[in-house]
Amino acid sequence: MQTIYTVYFVTAVLFILGLKRMAHPGTARSGIVWAGAAMALATIATFFYPNMHNYGLMILGIMIGSVVAWVSGKRVQMTAMPQMVAIYNGMGGGAAAAIAAVELSKGSIEGQGLIALSVFGGIIGSVAFSGSMIAFSKLQGIIGGRPIVFPAQKAANLIVFAIAVLAGLGVITDPSSSSMIVTFFVMSLIFGVMMTLPIGGADMPVVISLYNAFTGLAVGFEGLVMGNAAMIVAGTVVGAAGSMLTMLMAKAMNRSIGNVLFSNFGQLSDSGTDGIEGELKPIEAEDSAIMMGYAERVIIVPGYGMALAQAQHKVRELVDVLEARGVDVKFAIHPVAGRMPGHMNVLLAEAGIDYEKLYDMEDINDEFANTDVTVVMGANDVVNPAAKNNPSSPLYGMPILNVDESKNVIVIKRGQGTGFAGVENELFYQDNTRMLYGDAQSAVAKLVQTLKEM
Ligand code: TAP
Repeated sequence: MQTIYTVYFVTAVLFILGLKRMAHPGTARSGIVWAGAAMALATIATFFYPNMHNYGLMILGIMIGSVVAWVSGKRVQMTAMPQMVAIYNGMGGGAAAAIAAVELSKGSIEGQGLIALSVFGGIIGSVAFSGSMIAFSKLQGIIGGRPIVFPAQKAANLIVFAIAVLAGLGVITDPSSSSMIVTFFVMSLIFGVMMTLPIGGADMPVVISLYNAFTGLAVGFEGLVMGNAAMIVAGTVVGAAGSMLTMLMAKAMNRSIGNVLFSNFGQLSDSGTDGIEGELKPIEAEDSAIMMGYAERVIIVPGYGMALAQAQHKVRELVDVLEARGVDVKFAIHPVAGRMPGHMNVLLAEAGIDYEKLYDMEDINDEFANTDVTVVMGANDVVNPAAKNNPSSPLYGMPILNVDESKNVIVIKRGQGTGFAGVENELFYQDNTRMLYGDAQSAVAKLVQTLKEM
C-alpha cells in the first residue's frame, strides 16, 4: 500500500507541475503530457490496490475510452473544442456520481460524515454530468443554442433542486433506502438539465468551466469517501483551477457568475445604431494593404470571426510579408476574444506565430495611441468603446482593447453582423475606421497578395 501512496504522491506533484506548465503557451504542450503521464501512472497504480477484482472489465473500459478519446481528439476542429471539453469533463462528473451511487447502494460507506460527503459529491457530479451533456448538445447544434425558457421556470428549477436536496438528506439519515437513493440521483440529474437549458449557447464556455470545477469537487469528495489520495489531489486541483478560470472569464466579461447562469445574455435584440454618429466607410483590400505596408507599427486584434474563418494561416503569411518590409507587427489578445479561454493563442500558435508577438490586453493597451494601423480581424465586442463610455450598453464596464485610440483602424468582417453581445459597435463609425468587408480568410489572402506585389 505504501508503494501505491508513493506513486500517488508522485502523480500529485506531476499534476501540479503540469498545470503550472499549462499557464504559458510555450510550455503548455509539455504540461499536458506531464499531467497525462500522471494520470496514466495513477491508473496503473490502481490495478495494484488491495482487494481489486474485475480486471478484465477495467481493461476493457480503459481500452474503449482510450480509442474513443484518441480518435475524437485527433478529429476535433478547434472551433468545436468547447463542446469536446464539455463532454469529457461531464464524464468525469458522471464517474464521480456513479462511484457515489454504487458505494451508497452497496451500503459500504461507514459513518454518517462520509455518507454525507458521498451525497454531496453525488449531487455535484450528477449536475456536472447532465449539465455538461446539455452544454455539449447546445454547442454541437443537437438542440438549439438559444435559451430554452418556459413560464415559472425558476420556480420549477427550485422545486427540483429542493427535492434533490431533501432526498439527499433522506439518504444521509437512512442510507439503506434504495428508493431514496434513486430519487436523489434522478432529481440531481434532472436539475443539471433544467439549470442548463435556459442558458444561451454563447455563454456555454463559462458554464462548462463552472461544471469543470464541479467535477473536480465531486471527484475530490468521492476520493475522501474512498480514501483515495490520487482522487483527492486531482479533484482538488481541477476544482480550484476550474473555479479560478470561471471567475477570470466572468471578470473579463464584467459579469457575475449569477448573471451568466440566470440572465439569458447574448440573446438581446440588436440595439440598432441609435446615438452612434458617423457612417460605415468601406475600403478595398488593395488600399488596406498599402496603408499597412507603409506603416511603422501594426497591431492585429483577432476575434471570433478569425476562428470561424480559419484565417490563422493566412494571418501568419500577412505577418511574414509585413515584417519583410520592416513593419513592426504585434497581436493584441483580449482575455475573452473568441469563445473559449486562450482561443486566439491556440489558433495563432497552430499557425506557427511566435508567442513573443502575442500581447495581453494590459500589456498592449497603452500602445494603440502610437500605432499607425490596427487591424480588427473578426473581433467586435472586445473592441467596442461603448464598454468605456456608454453606461446603458450591456458591455459597459467590460475591459476592452483601446483600438479606438489607434491612428487608423481597419475592420475585417463579412457585413453588419453584431458580436456576441448583440450590440452595435461605435468603433466602426469612427472617422479613423475603414471597413474591409469579406470573410477574414479571403480578405487576408488579398492583403498578402497585394503586399507581395508592392
Ligand atoms: P464577437 O464579439 O463575437 O464578434 C465576432 C465578429 O466576427 C462578428 O462581428 C462577425 O461580424 C465577425 N465574423 C464572423 N464570421 C466572420 C468571418 N468568417 N470572417 C470575418 N469576420 C467574421 O467576437 P469577439 O470580439 O472575439 O468577442 C468575443 C465575445 O464572446 C465577447 O463578448 C465575450 O464576452 C464572449 N464570450 C467569450 C468567451 C471566451 S472564454 N472567449 C466565452 C463566452 C463568451 P459579421 O457577421 O459581420 O462577419
